[in-house]
Amino acid sequence: MNSYGLSGKEERPLTPQDPKPKKPFSRRGFMQGVGAGASAVGLVATADEAQAQSNVKSQGPAAVPVTLNINGKALKANVEPRETLLDTLRNQLDHTGAKRVCDRGTCGACTVIVDGKVQYSCTVLAIDAQGRQIQTIESLTAGGKVHPIVPAFVNNDAQQCGYCTPGFVMAAKGFLDRNPNPTYDQVKEGLGGNLCRCGTYVGVRKAVLEAAKALRAGNNVKGAVNA
Ligand code: FES
Ligand code: FES
Repeated sequence: MNSYGLSGKEERPLTPQDPKPKKPFSRRGFMQGVGAGASAVGLVATADEAQAQSNVKSQGPAAVPVTLNINGKALKANVEPRETLLDTLRNQLDHTGAKRVCDRGTCGACTVIVDGKVQYSCTVLAIDAQGRQIQTIESLTAGGKVHPIVPAFVNNDAQQCGYCTPGFVMAAKGFLDRNPNPTYDQVKEGLGGNLCRCGTYVGVRKAVLEAAKALRAGNNVKGAVNA
């Protein structure tokens, strides 16, 4: 057996007594087979479906007007279909709390809450965010109110350079909305989608536990105002 996994016997010339060789595998043959199989089970669009698809209004590639519901307000922007919610928030709507760090759904610095779910805003297209309720970190200090998670981060030294902090705060908000009485380990797991290059993880987890306690006790955390 050589380094390519062949024994060497395969090199003997074929004789009429040899069984007919099988057709070699080819990419074209594979694709033809898949196509035939898909047709057989009805996976290929029918003429009616193709017609319906052609009636879907395409948008772009130029910028198109959109209205986004940000923190309870309808805000207008002009976005190219390829533009992310993060870029629209930061560059057009003056909501710069969400940070652009990896821009590829890895670090969590851009975290917002969309329809009650924690999401990386760099992975959501602005055009797809129409009709959805988007909550950014700016909402946590709006109208003279401060959500307890904000002072809890200060009280627990839960930031160093601060670049990851808005994402952690929003991830924590979304986490506490679903888990009002978490353990330390649950906090650790719940915030596992956010990275801190400064390594402030312990402070962040303590802050989340303090905020959880405060929320259960009626927002009684130092620095929180009518949150
Ligand atoms: S900037 Fe969105 S996950 Fe890192
Ligand atoms: S505090 Fe610096 S990256 Fe988290």
